[in-house]
Amino acid sequence: MKRKKIVAGNWKMNLSWVEAFDLATSIKEKSEGVAGIQKIIFPPLPYLQMLSVIVEDEADFFVGAQNCSEHEKGAYTGEVSAEMIESAGASFVLVGHSERRMYFSETNEQLIQKINQALKSDLKIIFCFGEHLNERNNNLHFETVKQQLVEVLKHYPKEKTNELLIAYEPVWAIGTGETATPAQAQEMHAFVRKTLSEIFSNEIAQTISILYGGSCNAQNAKELFSCEDVDGGLIGGASLKAEDFCIIMNSF
Ligand code: 13P
Repeated sequence: MKRKKIVAGNWKMNLSWVEAFDLATSIKEKSEGVAGIQKIIFPPLPYLQMLSVIVEDEADFFVGAQNCSEHEKGAYTGEVSAEMIESAGASFVLVGHSERRMYFSETNEQLIQKINQALKSDLKIIFCFGEHLNERNNNLHFETVKQQLVEVLKHYPKEKTNELLIAYEPVWAIGTGETATPAQAQEMHAFVRKTLSEIFSNEIAQTISILYGGSCNAQNAKELFSCEDVDGGLIGGASLKAEDFCIIMNSF
């Protein structure tokens, strides 16, 4: 089975309302005629609804949230539920981004609950994971990644794996300008696919798109996307410029 090719932009905590509108509109215009590539943008929460309207008639263009609460509703000041995100028109949510794990101390237990909430509200997941530099330097990167995957995804319902996307984002490559080499990315993505086959089945593992994230940009996307097990990218900095995002979109 052919896996979906995906370019996702994680805007993190960037852009004003007007800049967000202009960027999404520009991506929409520039991606006309680009067939078979799924685009997903992850803007800050206040822009979800406005951007959902921009993409609503597009076949391959979606909006997602960068996070959701692990709770369904209630007295959790400042939190936003999966149901609220879905009602704003979003179809995806990122779960497990390293910045959430590091700066907000998110645990595997919370990630499992966030996934459950998201699935209950019909949001699709991009599950993010990746090793720190010291883990790679100590040759612990495979072990670390396997643990991150197994501990969370063993709770993920098999019947919804056709909607699951995952993103390998080595922490040492995020925002540093230091990208994994295509060989490093392919080696890890193949390992991740093998791990997915152990968690789910080989058949399912072959269908799950695995995205690479970490200083992926207009210059290096082609090389990375040419790797057999790299099915697209989760782009940070380079997704904030329509031209760069569109070059990346055309890099398959
Ligand atoms: P950069 O592309 O800025 O390294 O960020 C990657 C990332 O964290 C995407 O989620």
